[in-house]
Amino acid sequence: MTDQNLITAVKENILYITINREKALNALNKATLAELAEAVSFANTTDEVRGVIITGSGEKAFVAGADIKEFSDYTGAQGEELAKKGHDLVFNAIENSKKPFIAAINGFALGGGLELAMACHIRVAAETAKLGLPEVSLGLIPGYGGTQRLTQLVGKGKAIEMIITANPITAQEAEKIGLVNYVVPQGDVVTKATEILDAVKKRAPLAVSAALKAVIASLNDEGYQVETALFGECFDTADFKEGVAAFVNKRPSVFLGK
Ligand code: CAA
Repeated sequence: MTDQNLITAVKENILYITINREKALNALNKATLAELAEAVSFANTTDEVRGVIITGSGEKAFVAGADIKEFSDYTGAQGEELAKKGHDLVFNAIENSKKPFIAAINGFALGGGLELAMACHIRVAAETAKLGLPEVSLGLIPGYGGTQRLTQLVGKGKAIEMIITANPITAQEAEKIGLVNYVVPQGDVVTKATEILDAVKKRAPLAVSAALKAVIASLNDEGYQVETALFGECFDTADFKEGVAAFVNKRPSVFLGK
């Protein structure tokens, strides 16, 4: 991976990605999105990686949004292309990944930053974090999936309130409405996210991937059929046989991802 705007490291089967543009509050410019796309693809194609944690550098921001300075003179067509490319290469790619992604929200998660966190499968926020979709204050709407994923996570009423007021909410409020899974002290977000992935790492890799795919499929009408088909496919894996044998013989399971 050719990192400049990201710091990446694989430790104990977890890919840690730190967005490294602290002076710009880790805003997502094109170069950062390209590196993120590369990191997502690396995670998907590397067996050693069982899960991914994304965080921001510094204590102030996770990601303060798409880079406003970069798109300030875009036409409608360029704006649409920006969103489409972002979806294909990063946001949908994360949501549809075979590996679980956790956003470790260490500070502001605004606009494209909250959208990045919502594309991840699980969110852990620092108690100092602020989360919001302020795009309407720029004359925009969220373009990286915010109108869809916020509605899915918190319901129509709260999503509409957050999007049309543009007001950020605290981490504690976000936990109350189901936008984040955990709120932890500042400095503990990556540790908490690692703890969650450590639990996932003990489970059957193919079943974890199938579960992610089935849950994401619930967001469209085909969800139940997809779940049924994938449930059936799991029965043909060696991991399923190992998992059942370990249960029956009262021993820990050793999954090979096969
Ligand atoms: N894009 C580009 N630069 C950004 C940025 C962004 N989204 N957010 C912050 N920065 C830059 C600032 O311009 C500033 O740079 P300079 O030092 O060169 O002036 C630096 O980061 C520090 O920011 P502030 O001085 O503004 O810090 P603050 O503490 O006063 O305020 C903040 C913090 C409330 C997060 C404020 O920076 C802010 O409101 N940022 C923009 C948030 C926003 O509107 N995000 C949505 C972007 S649009 C989007 O994401 C579209 C989409 O859905 C695809």
